[in-house]
Amino acid sequence: MMDYSQGQGELANWIVSETAFSADTLGKGEAVMVLGNGYIGLRSAAEEPYIKEKRNLFINGTFNKSQKNEVTELPNLADVTQLDIRIDGERFSLEFGETKNYIRQLNLKTAELTRMFEWVSPKGKGVRFHFKRFVSLDNLHLIGMKMEIESLTDPIDVSVESGINAQVTNSGAQHFLEGERRIAENRFIQLVQTTNESSIDVVLNTVHNIIINGEKVTAHADKDMDRRKVWLTHDFSLRRGDKLEMEKLTTVHTSRDGNASAEGCDLQGFREQSLKELRQRADEGYDALFLSHKQAWQEKVWDACNIKIESDSGFDQLALRFALYQLTAMAPAHDDRMGIGAKALSGEGYKGHSFWDTEIFILPFFIYSNPAAARSLLTYRYRGLPGARQKAADNGYAGAMYPWEMAWPSDGEVTPVWGDIDIVTGDQTKIWSGFIEQHISADIAFAVYQYENITGDRDFMEHCGYEMVFSTADFWASRLEWHSDRRTYMITDVIGPDEYKEHVSNNAYTNYMAYFNMKLAVRYYEKLKDENPELLRKFEVDNAYREWRAKADLLYLPQPRKEDYVIPQDDTYLQLPDIDLTKYKNQTKVRTIYRNYNAEQINGFQVTKQADTLLLFYLLGQTFLQDDERLSEAVKRANFNYYEPRTLHDSSLSLATHVIIANDLGEKELAYSLFRKACEVDLGPQMDTSDDGVHAASIGGIWKAAVFGFAGVRLADGVLRINPRLPKHWHRMQFSIFWQGQALAIEITQKALKVTASDNRSVIIETGGMTYEMEDTMEVQFREIRPHSSSTVR
Ligand code: BGC
Repeated sequence: MMDYSQGQGELANWIVSETAFSADTLGKGEAVMVLGNGYIGLRSAAEEPYIKEKRNLFINGTFNKSQKNEVTELPNLADVTQLDIRIDGERFSLEFGETKNYIRQLNLKTAELTRMFEWVSPKGKGVRFHFKRFVSLDNLHLIGMKMEIESLTDPIDVSVESGINAQVTNSGAQHFLEGERRIAENRFIQLVQTTNESSIDVVLNTVHNIIINGEKVTAHADKDMDRRKVWLTHDFSLRRGDKLEMEKLTTVHTSRDGNASAEGCDLQGFREQSLKELRQRADEGYDALFLSHKQAWQEKVWDACNIKIESDSGFDQLALRFALYQLTAMAPAHDDRMGIGAKALSGEGYKGHSFWDTEIFILPFFIYSNPAAARSLLTYRYRGLPGARQKAADNGYAGAMYPWEMAWPSDGEVTPVWGDIDIVTGDQTKIWSGFIEQHISADIAFAVYQYENITGDRDFMEHCGYEMVFSTADFWASRLEWHSDRRTYMITDVIGPDEYKEHVSNNAYTNYMAYFNMKLAVRYYEKLKDENPELLRKFEVDNAYREWRAKADLLYLPQPRKEDYVIPQDDTYLQLPDIDLTKYKNQTKVRTIYRNYNAEQINGFQVTKQADTLLLFYLLGQTFLQDDERLSEAVKRANFNYYEPRTLHDSSLSLATHVIIANDLGEKELAYSLFRKACEVDLGPQMDTSDDGVHAASIGGIWKAAVFGFAGVRLADGVLRINPRLPKHWHRMQFSIFWQGQALAIEITQKALKVTASDNRSVIIETGGMTYEMEDTMEVQFREIRPHSSSTVR
């Protein structure tokens, strides 16, 4: 059972707890309490093994294909967390004996996982356990673990088997060739594994420090090896009150690491180098290493991008901290060849692949809070251009058609072709998104636009951004189909964001985003023509420019209906029958509609999986299309009223968009209740929803819902707009964002907005329909909307 109220005093709303153990619902705690630093993702399985556990250790970017007919995925590396413990010969497991005062906690502030309880073995021997674990943010290769055992009975024998175990798979799929294992100096264990297709070497080193009653001891251990496994067995005899501490420090390096080739190491050199590093760490010990890690979290995260909320609900604050925690743990800010998987680094779901989830739902946090990490994530997409060009060519198009699912940048499209069972036919269903869910190319162009507007990073644009926008515009120009009877271009046979509608034509989201993408290319072309003609010449896009212009203006954009302003989601949606969705709207688990209908049947109803047309108001409302009448306030309201009741939020990506729009429309209570649901996607009481991993986009959505929704921060085509509407039980919200390279501290109460600029560089801010030019600080009272201090009305 999860509990968020255990943190007291200074730790209030920092602690995610599990207050009871259940061997049946292990996935929840394993994923929600995952530890990570963007390089390593370590799922939080217990030390002692259980049948339903998923013990995952991932290293970002180490993609491999287990066999020819599989798509590439992030392999599950050898496990270092399992400890096989025996107390007086009996195997320790919480499924036997008696457990008292159980508590497992993830401290979001220090990113440390702890577990404490007393256990009485079936034979009546009592011990107190205290486990600790962290994945260092200070040294990306390091995992620290510590186990303390205190004897409560006299005497007991304790035996602990601990080592490196590569007898693991990705749900049965084996990714590794068996490598060498060794134990050096009776203490240092090393295991090598190599991926069978991508030939990535992985070197794991681990060492134990033993401390008894505060004294570091050199303990004898039996050495053992098996296939893909190497371990030590330590035996101890404890009297009542004796305390045994066992530290286990592990490092992981791979030949895919950014510096691996620079160091020029062959595997042998690599093994020696990594072992040497662990020798140094071993002397420092858990506590000192943990301290450096804790400081890194304070400096890089809590001092840099914290959000503080004074509210009647502590859970809201905790959920936002959880979001910042997870976003940090998932982001490979160290390496621009890597992206963020849909389940982050917390589970095997979606195979570690990146989707539009990153650009539309996760990237905004980084653009506003950590622009360097945002640039790295966009550079990953830039590096994906050859794969995107290949996909376009394979499908008979020009330019760059981004893969729906992306892994290593040069892999191209990696979406699997076969998926879940069809409940009617019993066959596997075909996954069409890799073929026809094409909006991702425009989503990436949107992300470039957003990044450029908010950061002003010209260097990125010149080296990557313009090319990404031009190449995706080229794709759309070649993708459009001319319909001479209607004298217009159309986009037929696609899937929009609503994956409950396959093979539709003129999905409004896809068409408008393609239009935006081509218009953006036109704007960038014209800008470069003025500012940097030399660079423009290098792109050789003069003919393309004429094509983007001509075709964008002739592209069919579904119009709001005259009678009710509803924009048809696609050509047929509004003609489909409605069914009673009450049961599914009130569901506590997602996708319950599949219990009654198969995909083909769902395709035939007015039911939407996730925010689709509504996304346009939120996204394009930030661009040069913000004044387009088709996206006006009245149209936005009409579409929200139409689509929200028909949207099941069966994808966790959906809720944040509806929060933002509901809040924009003044539907404060609905907005807050959708926000709570978004927070509960992973943190809620359903114990199996995170089994395959946490929902990375939904977590990005928690931040977005708070900052873009309640705080009302929004890009408005180059201008910063802030129109807050806090939930009524939020008294104060404080956070900071980067705007054009300068940090802005924002404080919002029910009555006022205050913005303070860190570098005293002038900023134009729009709020309450007025535009202000601010020097160092500005304060606006909501009722009067009157500027104070150094602001002047323009
Ligand atoms: C959603 C997609 C999303 C994918 C990965 C699907 O269920 O419909 O929009 O990209 O999950 O999160």
